[in-house]
Amino acid sequence: MKKILIIAFAIILSLSIFATENALEIFSWWTGGGEEEGLLALFDLFNKYYPDIQIINAAVAGGAGTNAKAVLKTRMLGGNPPDSFQVHAGMELTDTYVIPGLMEPITWLLKETGAYDKFPKDLIEIVSYKGEVYSVPVNVHRANVVFYNKKIAKEIGMTKEPTTWPEFLTYLDKAKKMGYVGIALGDKNKWTSLHLFESIMLAELGPEKYNKLWKGEASFNDPAIKQALSILKDILAYVNSDHSALTWQDATRMVFEGKAFCNMMGDWAEGYLKTLGWKPGVDFGWFALPGTQDAFMLVSDTFGLPKNAPHRENAIKWLKFLATVEAQDTFNPIKGSIPARIDADKSKYDVYLKWSMNDFSTKAICPSIIHGSAAPESFATALMDAINIFVTEQNVNQTFKEILWIAEDNGYLTD
Ligand code: GAL
Repeated sequence: MKKILIIAFAIILSLSIFATENALEIFSWWTGGGEEEGLLALFDLFNKYYPDIQIINAAVAGGAGTNAKAVLKTRMLGGNPPDSFQVHAGMELTDTYVIPGLMEPITWLLKETGAYDKFPKDLIEIVSYKGEVYSVPVNVHRANVVFYNKKIAKEIGMTKEPTTWPEFLTYLDKAKKMGYVGIALGDKNKWTSLHLFESIMLAELGPEKYNKLWKGEASFNDPAIKQALSILKDILAYVNSDHSALTWQDATRMVFEGKAFCNMMGDWAEGYLKTLGWKPGVDFGWFALPGTQDAFMLVSDTFGLPKNAPHRENAIKWLKFLATVEAQDTFNPIKGSIPARIDADKSKYDVYLKWSMNDFSTKAICPSIIHGSAAPESFATALMDAINIFVTEQNVNQTFKEILWIAEDNGYLTD
């Protein structure tokens, strides 16, 4: 019912936009809690250059695009696209929109502005199909990060950030014994438990094997994946009991409010903590999820150009704008992400983001499943459902079997 209402609202909104001539409808899921601030800063800057263009913010609430992706798909398939929309680099872009023929190539646009070779080659590769680029990457988020409350860390005697599961679990246990939640989780929108699990899987498989899964060069039938489920089970003993009623922002906020020791999240949580008034390195610290120190779980937000965009000329201006250093350096320090362009001004980024930049250029890059890069949506959704059931039932053998079925159904190796 809620989804139907959201879709109906989106259709009404988009019909009214046709009436506005010099409009630019931008679709995303950045509606609050650290995300909206970044988007609005982009809009403000864009309007400084194009004061006559009226931006229609068609954002649909729900972390990781929980509701937005369904609305967008309905609109795209119904021939009613926005002018430009947020989409993750990787399979979410290519499999869902490019291959079905719903997007315009934009290589020419990046070449014309001189931005084409200012992005890392690997990133350009995953927003391309058959030699043409289909979206402009605005950022690079890191998904495998634990953010912690420094005051609580001191109280529990954490002198060194943990790099192994036993060390991590010891701190979670100490926090629990002192009356805190060890690790905050908010899986009201189901994606967050897969967000946690995919990085545990990365820790257990190692970056090389993890990356081989998606190329059909390694099998899902690997004891490391079963072991990852056992570790998730161990960690779940330290989450808040009301996790299924909370969003990711609620969970991050528990760290800010001094209720939880830590939260494992993508670094949009860093953006959120900053908008709450916290300073990185002073009020909160961070570390890569134990076992993933050598890997950078990549999430990249991009914007593309749908075929038949109602205000195509304005959409082209928007995309050229997003590809500039100025736009990227305005958006990312707020959003908690690093710029996709390699020639951005490092001095604009805080101590956390400098750490992330350094790791991005030195660690193994691994694509996120739940944030659309590694696998098609059918796989990510089925895995998300399986992990969500696991969070309640905690049956390692059963969920491992289900993972193998899901992998087989999607054409991945299982023997
Ligand atoms: C991710 C997205 C991020 C952030 C996050 C939480 O999928 O790439 O930019 O918005 O969801 O909503």
